[in-house]
Amino acid sequence: MKTSGHTILITGGATGIGLALARQFHAQGNQLVLTGRDAAKLTAAAASMPGTATFPCNLSDPASLDALCDYMTTNHTGLSVLINNAGIQLSYNFKDEPDSLQHILTETSVNFTAPLTLTNRLMPLLSGQPEAAVVFVSSALYIAPKRSAPVYCATKSAVHTFAKALRYQLEGSGIRVFDIIPPLVDTAMTAERSSGKISPEQLAVTFIKGFGDNRYEQHIGKSRLLKILSRIMPALTDRMMKNG
Ligand SMILES: NC(=O)c1ccc[n+]([C@@H]2O[C@H](COP(=O)([O-])OP(=O)(O)OC[C@H]3O[C@@H](n4cnc5c(N)ncnc54)[C@H](OP(=O)(O)O)[C@@H]3O)[C@@H](O)[C@H]2O)c1
Repeated sequence: MKTSGHTILITGGATGIGLALARQFHAQGNQLVLTGRDAAKLTAAAASMPGTATFPCNLSDPASLDALCDYMTTNHTGLSVLINNAGIQLSYNFKDEPDSLQHILTETSVNFTAPLTLTNRLMPLLSGQPEAAVVFVSSALYIAPKRSAPVYCATKSAVHTFAKALRYQLEGSGIRVFDIIPPLVDTAMTAERSSGKISPEQLAVTFIKGFGDNRYEQHIGKSRLLKILSRIMPALTDRMMKNG
């Protein structure tokens, strides 16, 4: 997979992992479109990357998602890489909070339904390119979940499985499917965690090298160790991750 000359849409592109990916891809000569809910953050992010377009979108709102797809179809017909990065993690307890439907809907729509919808709706643009890719960001929590965020963990397992099945479906087409499986990364999402994190920049540099080498499933840093450990000692892996 070439790493320059693409038009790339990055969801959640104004912060954290999405912003680090944006900076690295921009430095390598790619044209970017960034999306997220916060227009001011998008504008600030794009200011440091000349030529970058932005489009505010709330991925949990079907009308807003539709507007993003229409915008891309009208204005960025050369789209060749879709990076489904945006995500949200909520901690809630099913026993103590029986009325969690809004939390459940938000997490499942942002983390799972929206990436699938975008992938599906933007497929005609991706199919029109000689070389194209869809990138998902799952999590090491697909390997072993933690008790504090069961819906988040479930959505990441679903994303991981979907990416694999979509890869099978697109075999023989020009569209490749990548899955980034990050360890703990130092972003707003992990602000309450004090140690053991890699920087978003480290993750982005590692991923883009693997992107160029067609490494479709990228277990990065400690995710790689966790995957190996889960095969040798699954019960220990579960115990280690349960209270994470
Ligand atoms: N940090 C980690 O340790 C870690 C580990 C494994 C996987 N991940 C995954 O990595 C991805 C990026 O997370 P991060 O760590 O970089 O955290 P982050 O800085 O909090 O980024 C999350 C991004 O998602 C966007 N987003 C959230 N809800 C949205 C919505 N309803 N509509 C549109 N955009 C929305 C946010 O933008 P707005 O707030 O402006 O909407 C933000 O840019 C996520 O999928 C996360 O699950 C992170």
